[in-house]
Amino acid sequence: MIETLQNQKLAAWIHDMVELLEPARVHLCDGSEVEYQTLCQEMVKEGTFIHLNEAMRPNSFLARSNPKDVARMEHRTFICSKKEEDVGPTNNWCEPKEMETELRRLFKGAMHGRTLYVIPFSMGPLGSEISHIGIELTDSPYVVCNMRIMTRMGGDVLDILGEEGEFIPSLHSVGAPLKVGEKREPWPCDPENTHVVHFPERREIWSYGSGYGGNALLGKKCFALRIASVMARDEGWLAEHMLIVGVTNPEGKKKYFAAAFPSACGKTNLAMLQSTLPGWKIECIGDDIAWMKIGRDGRLYAINPEAGFFGVAPGTSNDSNPNAMASCSQNSIFTNVALSPEGDVWWEGMTKEKPPHLTDWLGSPWTPDSPKTAAHPNARFTAPAAQCPVIDPAWEDPAGVPISAILFGGRRGTTIPLVYEAFDWDHGTFLGCSVSSETTAAATGELGKLRHDPFAMLPFCGYNMGDYFAHWLSMTKRTSPEKLPRIYSVNWFRKSPDGKFLWPGFGENVRVLKWIFERTEGEQNGEKSPIGILPKPRALDFTGLSLTDEQKQALFAIDREAWKKEASEMEDYLSQFGAHLPEGIKAQLSQLKERLG
Ligand code: OXD
Ligand code: MN
Repeated sequence: MIETLQNQKLAAWIHDMVELLEPARVHLCDGSEVEYQTLCQEMVKEGTFIHLNEAMRPNSFLARSNPKDVARMEHRTFICSKKEEDVGPTNNWCEPKEMETELRRLFKGAMHGRTLYVIPFSMGPLGSEISHIGIELTDSPYVVCNMRIMTRMGGDVLDILGEEGEFIPSLHSVGAPLKVGEKREPWPCDPENTHVVHFPERREIWSYGSGYGGNALLGKKCFALRIASVMARDEGWLAEHMLIVGVTNPEGKKKYFAAAFPSACGKTNLAMLQSTLPGWKIECIGDDIAWMKIGRDGRLYAINPEAGFFGVAPGTSNDSNPNAMASCSQNSIFTNVALSPEGDVWWEGMTKEKPPHLTDWLGSPWTPDSPKTAAHPNARFTAPAAQCPVIDPAWEDPAGVPISAILFGGRRGTTIPLVYEAFDWDHGTFLGCSVSSETTAAATGELGKLRHDPFAMLPFCGYNMGDYFAHWLSMTKRTSPEKLPRIYSVNWFRKSPDGKFLWPGFGENVRVLKWIFERTEGEQNGEKSPIGILPKPRALDFTGLSLTDEQKQALFAIDREAWKKEASEMEDYLSQFGAHLPEGIKAQLSQLKERLG
């Protein structure tokens, strides 16, 4: 099989890896429906998958992970560049040779008794100039099936790769070799030894010990963000943790926006928003990652490198996101959600009433009186993007879509207004640097703690974030600044002093998108403030919302003292980047301080 591969670099790499991993057999994935069904049936037999009720959720499966393997593990994620300085203070570093020795020890014989699956995948539409190819080697059929939904996978990718094409070698093992006769566990993993490792100079990924999404589906966070951010820096483009939406106004004019929010802060909801304003339509290109390159006309063009959604299930409902519910209505994989007696899935927030009896994500009986949640807070659905009722007609356009606005946001109970615009690209870059948010269940660790998350890329930037800021600033040298998108800060999560959310969010967020759309059309509907350009009074469309004048004001209130604290806190945070902090960012900080007086 390997002998038939045309690409000699690929054949040699697989050959070496087979020697290291010692699998029982090797399977080259063709990405076909037959292959997918065969793997699903095998996983049902082994207890990894539960086949859901065909009448209720056709061709869909539930997986329950090991309870120790439920989220991305940031403390076990490493960027191994040659120099420690190149990963900066926000990434874990290890000397590459030392790490490789450790990895070779862990991976030696790691696939005993298991099949090594070779997954050729393309991040981005096949053949697009913006797309890139990866090859994942894995011993997890769960990974193969998820990758088939999340990427363009199979033989066509090898044709595009050809004899000489470049690919990102992405090695994954659950780290559970089987002894002869040993029974297979439903969710093999090795949480104590999990390592998610990136070698940016060699552009390689080695992930050991976890079967969970962000640690194991290597096309997503590892390739499309950590390795791609390094490629983007070297080649003059942007690889970002951003959703992409098409926004059409009542006159039929369409623009595309990209938006960065930290994990589990509502990117999927915004990407599939159902407009509450008559005549305004939102369509989805992607919900998590954007690759953006400057096009021949000097504008920034974006593609979604993924082909599916790996969405957070809890909180998703026909009220909050009917399009996500429709996306995962069939042909989907669910991980760590609850199971209903009828054989369908359930999670917190899916229905107003909790069902009387369920099996929880750990496989135990559950009732509404149970002290724990039925679904894990980071339970996920893996669903094909093509099933989204509002998928944009251009979502697979190899040229990408031109971006008119970039939004940055986080979960902030205080201080940050509903929306404001940056004065220019450099100030916008500073807004990206300033993102901070309360932590969520998407990564292991404490919940609800405010943490800086510049550009929502803190866990995903493959190099020194100070240099990443400089790369963003450099975009004005790569094209005429007026061709670049305008930049905005948004915050749906501001609360009144009594702790209630001030803004209804969800479909009503279209009102904010409308103001941004109008700004990009050159409307004079903004006014300068010390922090940026705010909507003029009454410029934001509040019609039909039952907000008091006091609440409207509170959404945009600028508390100078709180902002001065914000600025000095920001200064402390940024100081960790030392000589890598660009002068342009320091200048933005001092200008903000000056404007605040
Ligand atoms: C994700 C994440 O899974 O950001 O998208 O954690
Ligand atoms: Mn994400």
